[in-house]
Amino acid sequence: MDKKQVILAIESSCDETAAAVVQDDFTVISSVVSSQIALHAKWGGVVPGIASKQHVVAMNGVIGEALEKADVTPEELSAVAVTVGPGLPGSLATGISAAKALCLAWEKPFVAVNHLEGHLFSAELDGAKIEFPAIYLLVSGGHCMIVYAAERGKYKLLGTTLDDSVGEAYDKVARELGFEYPGGPIIDKLSLQGKDSYPLPRPMLDRGYDFSFSGLKTAVRREIDKGNVVKEDMATSFVVASMDVLSTKLRKAVQEYQPRNVIVVGGVSKSPILRSKLTDGSLGKVNVIFPGLKYSTDNAAMIGAAGWWQFKTKGPSADNVPMMPGLSIPLAEAKPDA
Ligand code: KG4
Ligand code: ZN
Repeated sequence: MDKKQVILAIESSCDETAAAVVQDDFTVISSVVSSQIALHAKWGGVVPGIASKQHVVAMNGVIGEALEKADVTPEELSAVAVTVGPGLPGSLATGISAAKALCLAWEKPFVAVNHLEGHLFSAELDGAKIEFPAIYLLVSGGHCMIVYAAERGKYKLLGTTLDDSVGEAYDKVARELGFEYPGGPIIDKLSLQGKDSYPLPRPMLDRGYDFSFSGLKTAVRREIDKGNVVKEDMATSFVVASMDVLSTKLRKAVQEYQPRNVIVVGGVSKSPILRSKLTDGSLGKVNVIFPGLKYSTDNAAMIGAAGWWQFKTKGPSADNVPMMPGLSIPLAEAKPDA
C-alpha cells in the first residue's frame, strides 16, 4: 500500500508531556498528551522541579502510545521532531534527550523545532488551509504576540508583551480570586455569568502592537483589596478588558497589513469569548481561523506540522543543536505588501 510519509514529534517544554505522529499533509494520525495540571494545581502555577521529574516518568509511555495508536513502526518514520525551546530547561531536556536517543537508535533524521512556530502551525492540523499574507495572534501562558507572515515561515514580529502574557494574567487573576491553576478556563467560564461592572484599564491601547497585561492584573488586585468583590463580575470585567486590547491591536494590524487570514493560536485561543469576539466582523473583511480546540493548548501534533515543513524546506537539524529555553520567533525580512 502506498503510505504517506510520517514524522514522530515530541513536546515537553512546560507541563504537558506529548507525542504525536503526523502525516506530511498535516493530518494527525495520533496525538497523545499527558497533562500535569493535577500536580501543579494547588501550587497556583507550574513548579519547574515537579514538571521535569514528571516528564521523565511519562515520556516513554507517551511516545509508545503515540506510535501504537498510529500503528506505525520506527522503520516507517521519516524523521523525529522535538521542541528545543522556548520553555523550562529541565522540561525541555527530557524531550530533547528522548528524541536524540531515538534518532541514534533508529537511524532517523533529527528535527529541532521552535515551540512558538509549532503554535503558529496548529490551526492547519486536520483542517484549514492558510492563505498568505497572514497575521498570527499567539496568546498562550508564556507568550502574547502579533506576527505578520508575507509567506509561510517568513515572520515579522509586530508586537509582543512587555511583561505578562494574557494567559499568565488570566492565571494570576484566577489565583487572586481563589481559584486553582490554570485559571484561564475557570475565568473564561465565570465571565459568562457576570457583568462588566469594574472600571479596568486597557493598557497600551494606542501604543503600536506591544502589550502589557501586568497593569491590568494589578488593577484587578486593587479592586479585590477593596473587599466584597463579586467574582463573576470581576471575571467579566477582566475578560472584556483583555479582549478589547487584543481585538483593537488585531484590527489595527488588519488595516495596516491587509492579510488574507488572521490566525489565532495558543491556550487562550480556546476561549469561546475570544472566538466569538474576533469573528463578529469587527476585524474587517478577513478570514479568522482558529485551531481545533485540542490543538489550542500545548500538544506534539503542532510540533510535527512545524517539523515537517522545516524538514522539507531546510532538511534535518544538526545533531548538536542545543536546548534554547529563551528562543523567540524565527524572524525573516518579510516585506509587507500593504
Ligand atoms: O498554549 P498553552 O497550553 O501553553 C503555553 O505555551 O504557554 O497555554 C496555556 C494558557 C494558560 O495560561 C491557560 O490559563 C490558558 O492557556 N487557557 C485559557 C483557556 N484554556 C487555557 N485561557 C482562556 N480561556 C480558556 N478557555
Ligand atoms: Zn505553548
